[in-house]
Amino acid sequence: MIQGRDVVTLDTFSAEEIRHVTARARRMKAEGHGRPLVGRSLAMVFFDPSLRTRVSFDIAFSSLGGSVIDMAATRDLWPLAFGEGAVMDGLADEHVRDAAGVLSEYADLIAIRALDREGDWAQARQDLVIVSFQLHSSVPIFNMESVLDHPCQAFADALTLEEELGTLEGKKLALTWGWHPKARPLAVPHGVGLMASKLGMRTTIAHPEGYDLDGKTLATMRHAAAASGGSLDVVYDMDEALEQADVVYAASWGATRHHGRPDAEQAHRQPFRDWRLTTDRMAHTNGGRFMHAMPIRRNVEADDAVVDSAGSLIRRQAGNRLHVQRALFAEVLGA
Ligand code: CP
Repeated sequence: MIQGRDVVTLDTFSAEEIRHVTARARRMKAEGHGRPLVGRSLAMVFFDPSLRTRVSFDIAFSSLGGSVIDMAATRDLWPLAFGEGAVMDGLADEHVRDAAGVLSEYADLIAIRALDREGDWAQARQDLVIVSFQLHSSVPIFNMESVLDHPCQAFADALTLEEELGTLEGKKLALTWGWHPKARPLAVPHGVGLMASKLGMRTTIAHPEGYDLDGKTLATMRHAAAASGGSLDVVYDMDEALEQADVVYAASWGATRHHGRPDAEQAHRQPFRDWRLTTDRMAHTNGGRFMHAMPIRRNVEADDAVVDSAGSLIRRQAGNRLHVQRALFAEVLGA
């Protein structure tokens, strides 16, 4: 169904395809998976740190019989140039056209993490690094989190939600901003919002003034929610979003209007320290289910009592990254 496809944004996958992947992940989780990827290889390139994505990708591919090479871009690659027609008389020693082309000669899949924080939002949302690898690679590209999307996290979140709630249609997801000392990427809330909208959930996004998600991505979510019979609302009050929510998904992200200007962003977020999940707030939900992609700032984004509560799904979410990744690799490689 998705053989040979890039996994770069959740937007390119239908609800049926998302459910197909989570169903395969559930089967592999329950029944085992064999070694269908013997002789296949995965090249991973990290421009930014990672724990869950790095380890789940590596162990998923290796446990299916394949081999993995894990590269930190700044340590292992020649400094890259990205612009078309670049005159390379500066610091860059290699063009992404050549790096992606050569990696395609060696590997069956290329996976990229690149959370570019430079420039204004109009520039950053072009997602230059991952899009350039897509353009110049002849093998499928996996997005391990970019400026705009974190699709593999969203697939794992779909699996976790299905395990917990059964059918997702009509269930209420509160996707809430939380205070964080740094401006985090928008990729996780974008991926989760797209997934929930495609799968027919009633999604309420809560954030302080100025923390709107990317306008085009939000429009895509609204379109998907309308098509699936779900809904999408945006409010500026965390408590309003949490009211009778079947699951609360906490994330933190930067203000796009200040993208690339950290001092202005810091000043903007300072008044919003009370955007923190507490047990009192979670008491207003339907069941106290709590999700977060991690890493999480304890007692800043959410209190220990929430993170470690019986309703906290965050360990299962992280664990499901492995099961979904096996399913995605097997599907994309036709194994
Ligand atoms: N959720 C997630 O992508 O975690 P890492 O940044 O540790 O990979």
